[in-house]
Amino acid sequence: MAAINSATDLTRDGEIAVITLDSPPVNALSFNVRDGLYEGFKAAIADDAVKAIVLICAGRTFIAGADISEFGGAQKGASLFDVQAMMENSPKAVIAAIHGTALGGGLEVALTAHYRVAVPSAKCGLPEVNLGLLPGAGGTQRLPRIVGAQKALEMMTSGSHVPAKQCLEMGLVDSLAEEGKLLDGAVAFARKVLADKMPLNKVRERTVTADPQVFADFRKANARKFRGFKAPEANIKCVEASLLPFEEGIKVERALFMELMTGEQSAAQRYAFFAERQANKIPDVPADTPIIPVAKVGIIGAGTMGGGIAMNFLNVGIPVKIIETKQEALDRGLGVIRKNYENTAKRGRLTMDQVEQRMSLLSGSLALEDLADSDLVIEAIFENMAVKKEVFGKLDAIVKQGAILATNTSALDIDEIATAVKRPEAVIGLHFFSPANVMRLLEVVRADKTSKSVIATAMQLAKKIGKVAVLVGVCPGFVGNRMLFQRQAQAQRLVMEGAMPWDVDRVLFDFGFPMGPFAMSDLAGLDIGWNKETSKGETIRDQLCELDRRGQKTSAGYYDYDEKRTAIPSPVTEGIIKAFAQKQGLNQRDISDEEILERTVFPMINEGAKILEEGKAIRASDIDIVWINGYGWPVYRGGPMHYADSIGLKKVVERLKHYEAQMGDFFKPSPLLEKLAAEGKGFKDL
Ligand code: 3HC
Repeated sequence: MAAINSATDLTRDGEIAVITLDSPPVNALSFNVRDGLYEGFKAAIADDAVKAIVLICAGRTFIAGADISEFGGAQKGASLFDVQAMMENSPKAVIAAIHGTALGGGLEVALTAHYRVAVPSAKCGLPEVNLGLLPGAGGTQRLPRIVGAQKALEMMTSGSHVPAKQCLEMGLVDSLAEEGKLLDGAVAFARKVLADKMPLNKVRERTVTADPQVFADFRKANARKFRGFKAPEANIKCVEASLLPFEEGIKVERALFMELMTGEQSAAQRYAFFAERQANKIPDVPADTPIIPVAKVGIIGAGTMGGGIAMNFLNVGIPVKIIETKQEALDRGLGVIRKNYENTAKRGRLTMDQVEQRMSLLSGSLALEDLADSDLVIEAIFENMAVKKEVFGKLDAIVKQGAILATNTSALDIDEIATAVKRPEAVIGLHFFSPANVMRLLEVVRADKTSKSVIATAMQLAKKIGKVAVLVGVCPGFVGNRMLFQRQAQAQRLVMEGAMPWDVDRVLFDFGFPMGPFAMSDLAGLDIGWNKETSKGETIRDQLCELDRRGQKTSAGYYDYDEKRTAIPSPVTEGIIKAFAQKQGLNQRDISDEEILERTVFPMINEGAKILEEGKAIRASDIDIVWINGYGWPVYRGGPMHYADSIGLKKVVERLKHYEAQMGDFFKPSPLLEKLAAEGKGFKDL
């Protein structure tokens, strides 16, 4: 094998040259890789004995894209365009052999090959949109020329990874090779190209047509999904430009790519990409920490949380046993799970066979003793310390040694729960978010005595069930809810001072949250934790509930709702608020949008700083990942801590002090925040 450079080899199988790229972990197009490809193709083209060239990758995947970590740095070595021109203009057929994922720049490289061969498990996609970008190496122009405008719009704005079989149907892949025999398949295909004198296809030479209505309809249908994001619209514009001659389309792509690349949104989204991966790394839990095999899961409680949690494991083939105290509750819980799966099947996202297969992994019982052989037990009952301790005490006597004993508490002290067992090292918090089968975030809560093995297993298992796990420490509300409390307190306070619930909601909605706190309360139901018998009308919520304004379900809460569930500002709510304020002697005043935003968001940042000071989160970016994945923080603003850095901690401290002077200690900046601001630093410098 002739090494071209440290990332690339060139070999020959008869008249077929094979360029093998090997740049772990994902063969990203770093300068070294680009150089290797450029020189490899140059050498293969120059070799008279070579008639066709196969490009294949070693390791787990084909090229997964440009090297994101190089973005923003100085360009060195061959450019991606040089590599692509070398491939596309090659007088010898070039065949890309795809396994794993051909993503972003990786697919764009493959699109300059004359043919593409893939194994059935391979996937192709242009996920740049998820980094606030667009495919910037001709992908926006070549993809529509193969799959048409409509499919290109869908792929580019969703970033989806399309399975090889579908790629074959769309013409994105020309042939499937047998799984595990990609090289043989690709070389055989190359020989066929030669034998049949097949043309050297250049995708750029094709044309694409589309009715302009396609774009208008697509924009309209997705307006809500794309709200606030710059990249989807730029991707759409590029597909529109693909109707133009290729070179003109490329100019549009280049200009829009540079605009996105230098913008704040992409910077935030690229930050979030690495932050999510970083969250998996726990400094004192090394990668080789022993993992506890989890083949059987027990869940205590068949309510909404327990059921949702169970589905995560069933989805990946892990059997689950759910325990309830009453047969009726158990039957109801199991029934809800079945119904959820059947609804998914109705929407075409599961087959009925898959539904049955998942349900066959689920069983129920009324006896805790049936959890004896579980590898992981997750308690998901109501929030009551005494009851939880009793359950853990019983589990201690029942469940085999070595198993993990987890609680889904969102509020209680897990160190105290752990005192109920003789093996506190086995106790951990697994704080799922509702609906637990949908929400991506999992707060993994490390108690004082939790063992490293238990932590490592929880983090790995989270990945297996498709969650984004963040390790946090024990404190009231952990990371997410603890910061949410700050926002809620100010939202309530602002309303007493003169902002209406719809003002607060609008400001946070415009900032990028899917909905504001009051709309959220209406959706969840204002009567959660409210009791008709004991209600004394002491809060706005009490009074709303007493009027049977219990949220969307009663068509009235903070808002009024019409038959289409449109939220309409309510004069009743306004009256209640004003009367309340008057009773408390508060002069209501006009409150600016800026004040609403600062008073709801800056205390969250301040609380985040306190969480870091106390070591309850490992790093600022972990906090951002919690907020992006669990609370709808707009990813294009990178999470509260990244946002604070982007506007400058000096400003955050100044404004907190301004409010502290008017309203007291609630706004007092934490020592860490003050220190960083004084040093001209950000959370990123910690
Ligand atoms: N650049 C640099 N590093 C990358 C990378 C990339 N494109 N893709 C992945 N990595 C790194 C990750 O940061 C991680 O590093 P770590 O081990 O130090 O944390 C490592 O590779 C493994 O990644 P994952 O943990 O994500 O591994 P998985 O196996 O779960 O997933 C993957 C693999 C599906 C390839 C996933 O990493 C992924 O989606 N990568 C991003 C793909 C992408 O967005 N490509 C487009 C890039 S932009 C572009 O190409 C612009 C062009 O149009 C000009």
